[in-house]
Amino acid sequence: MPEDVKQKIFPKDFLWGASTAGHQVDGGCHDQWTVWELDNASELAKTARERINYVPVWDKVKTQAEDPDNYISGAAVEHYRHYRQDFDLLKQLNFNSFRFSIEWSRLEPEQGQWNQAAIDHYYDYIKELKKRQIEPVLNIWHWTHPVWFEQKGGFKKYSNLKYFEKFVRKIAHEYGKDLKYVITINEPNVYSAFGYLVEDVSSRHRWPPEEKSVLSFARVYWNLILAHKRAYKVLKRVHPHLQIGIALQLGNIQAKDPHDILDEISTKLMRYFWNWWFLRRINKYQDFIGMNYYFTDYYDSIFKRQDPTAPISDTGWYMEPEGLYPILMRAWDHFKKPIIVTENGVADSEDQYRRWWIEETIVAMERATSQGVEIRGYFHWSLLDNFEWAMGWWPKFGLVAVDRQNGMKRTIRESAKWFAEKIAKLS
Ligand code: BGC
Repeated sequence: MPEDVKQKIFPKDFLWGASTAGHQVDGGCHDQWTVWELDNASELAKTARERINYVPVWDKVKTQAEDPDNYISGAAVEHYRHYRQDFDLLKQLNFNSFRFSIEWSRLEPEQGQWNQAAIDHYYDYIKELKKRQIEPVLNIWHWTHPVWFEQKGGFKKYSNLKYFEKFVRKIAHEYGKDLKYVITINEPNVYSAFGYLVEDVSSRHRWPPEEKSVLSFARVYWNLILAHKRAYKVLKRVHPHLQIGIALQLGNIQAKDPHDILDEISTKLMRYFWNWWFLRRINKYQDFIGMNYYFTDYYDSIFKRQDPTAPISDTGWYMEPEGLYPILMRAWDHFKKPIIVTENGVADSEDQYRRWWIEETIVAMERATSQGVEIRGYFHWSLLDNFEWAMGWWPKFGLVAVDRQNGMKRTIRESAKWFAEKIAKLS
């Protein structure tokens, strides 16, 4: 497509950004996930071979994957200390926005006790972003919360929602006036499914709290709907100007054999329950649809994913970046609300696929935009290499590589340099 046509496709105020989450980058967190890491690191290391030797980079990462240290977030990439430097990187990469999550466990380490130093930290954090003309997109809950909240039963208990609501109110009062966009919760489908129902994406990892119970899953999922609605109301009441949504993991779900009626049925059911069910419940309480896109999955009649085996990323995930187009079209068709791609990216330590992935993604967004879909922004996952939950440190999702063995040195990957030039041309 000629450049002048492209320039017309994305509006001037399109949000080009990167996405992160506190627990995965900050360092020094103390939340329910850190407790789980410490309890489970040895076991995860011991079972790494049987769980993840299928990944294409196994030979390269096995020493790390079999080391308990891999499963400890610890100092992470010290983003909590180096945020100013990281914001300079955002600027260098031509981004005009940034999605980050606030750590509830830092703000309210004990129930009802607010930590002023942490509150001030995020004041400065938001100020430093705005100073650089970078739009802060604040994510309230990205899977982690204070240990005391988990001990009370976390989101499994309806009566605990009041604690979340208080936390949201605090955020609304402290930071709301400086923000335009707020994401209340990240991927409630992934969190409740992999913590309370099944094993994770590859069916080989365990996730806290490892409670396999349909009832608990249903409770958590339902309570997250209520948590979002309450958060929406609180935020709007305090700051009606805020644009509020969630970030849901949406898959481009397809039938393995499009002519097989059973494959079609299981595909339709998966689409409904995985993609739309939650969004439909909160539809009156969202100003945009936030979607995290990583997966195109092909389903057979017994709800089994049967994806092509190439091309695959370092984490063994089948890559079909162009699958963003159909899911954008479907989301638009269902809700007719502006869409923000709140996460999208690939684990690629050699940086051999990332540029292609981003190029295809941009084309997918151009296609959808040309069909009338209103896309407000795109946030790449992630700015920095980060702690990849139960997989630990070996997967590399960063536009910027971080050398944790060498003073947390940041190095911009080639694909990111290319992306920065592309953004300059598109905006
Ligand atoms: C999560 C991120 C995670 C990314 C890559 C998303 O589901 O929101 O926290 O790092 O996927 O696995």
